[in-house]
Amino acid sequence: MIKKVYIKTFGCQMNEYDSQRILSIFEESGYDKTDDPEEADFAVINTCSVREKPKEKVKSEIGRLKRYKNSNPDFKIAIAGCVAQEDGEAILKENKSVDLVIGTDGIPKLYEAISRVEKGERLAITEFYHDDFTVPIFNRNSSVSAFVTIMKGCDNFCSYCIVPYVRGREKSRHYKEILDEVKFLVDNGVREVTFLGQNVNSYGKTLDEKINFTQFLYMAAQIDGLNRIRFVTSHPKDFNNDLVDLIASERKICEYLHLPLQAGSNDILKKMNRGYTFEEYEEKIFNAKEKIKGLALSSDFIVGFPGETDEDFEQTLKAVKNIEYETIFAFKYSPRPGTKASSMQDNISDVEKANRLKKLLDAQQIITDNLLKRQIGETQEILVEGKSKKDAHVYSGRNRKNRIVNFTSEKSLQNGEIVKVKITQAKKNSLFGNLEVS
Ligand code: SAH
Ligand code: SF4
Ligand code: F3S
Repeated sequence: MIKKVYIKTFGCQMNEYDSQRILSIFEESGYDKTDDPEEADFAVINTCSVREKPKEKVKSEIGRLKRYKNSNPDFKIAIAGCVAQEDGEAILKENKSVDLVIGTDGIPKLYEAISRVEKGERLAITEFYHDDFTVPIFNRNSSVSAFVTIMKGCDNFCSYCIVPYVRGREKSRHYKEILDEVKFLVDNGVREVTFLGQNVNSYGKTLDEKINFTQFLYMAAQIDGLNRIRFVTSHPKDFNNDLVDLIASERKICEYLHLPLQAGSNDILKKMNRGYTFEEYEEKIFNAKEKIKGLALSSDFIVGFPGETDEDFEQTLKAVKNIEYETIFAFKYSPRPGTKASSMQDNISDVEKANRLKKLLDAQQIITDNLLKRQIGETQEILVEGKSKKDAHVYSGRNRKNRIVNFTSEKSLQNGEIVKVKITQAKKNSLFGNLEVS
């Protein structure tokens, strides 16, 4: 009988990419994917430790999964990702039901690990492998949009952030390898790729051949059959004008930019070790807005960083109102062990953090509503990604700004088609429209 693997993914897109690699290795090892842990033989939790909350979820997830061992004594549990990297062997010691701990660099070692665990071993693989960062091309679920990791790790050491510790030093993948992966994806029906890295603007620095991110994107844009290119995350300190010019001139690169500001106050930005002032950031943003027609912006924010005063927070609010992002992701500061900020006093109460978070998100909702309303009447280019389960004439896709657009169409459409949709309504976080028939 064929064995089954269940995977649950927390955290960022990089983890989603890794989960696909993990699934691909399980497939090669004789497993089918299942969405029901009850019928699985192996369960993998791909974890995130960027804040305390996602980390806590790992414990409850282990608790939920371990009961399947009662009915199936051969049921195995693996912890992968950033918590696995952070806590390593301790996870095996503290959780008797966990069989495998596999860190963020350990995925290529999974072939061997699976067979050892199947034989009854319990093991933790958490070394960093700096020299070898090749990713064999792997199968994905049939989808029209795919993530492609182009670099791993981070050298920025923002004072609050655990990522440099759990993902290791920055290293770029060779561009030929990435372009081959994209060509493979396009041959298999993918129309849109999102290139992933913690700081894509420094792509290429660790490669022998001289290549930078803008040059890389230009090469990717030459791939026939690929219609759309996106990328996250750009770091403001390395975000430059060459990239703005390329986005403005290269049709395949979408007019969407995620450029995390984190805080509006220069004092806080300094304590965060972000490497830019608010004024420098603002200048780059306004330059990009001016040159890239129809640009949609998004950003990340942390509220309640140690020492953040009311005035500091007001500057974040003001920044959000002035810049007019289409979307923001905002988080309460969460001290992470081993980071520089964790030795600063976490002096903002949870209630105050929650207040600031609410204020910021409320202010943003008004901006999002306005920006979406302004799009009513526009004809937008939508990549068809699916069909409504309830209504056969309603389809779903994304516009170039990465916004979900649901729309009606009398004509039957296939996933992966690019169509023109006239926007008729703005919902809370999505748009609605009708297919434009030419
Ligand atoms: N490389 C990306 C961010 C990766 S982490 C960048 O530099 O922008 C994603 C987001 O989580 C960050 O942008 C930040 O807003 C948030 N974050 C990271 N560490 C955090 C912490 N300790 N507490 C709260 N939010 C945090
Ligand atoms: Fe973390 Fe800063 Fe690196 Fe982003 S750039 S992953 S916030 S250390
Ligand atoms: Fe989380 Fe690791 Fe991504 S800590 S945000 S899954 S890099």
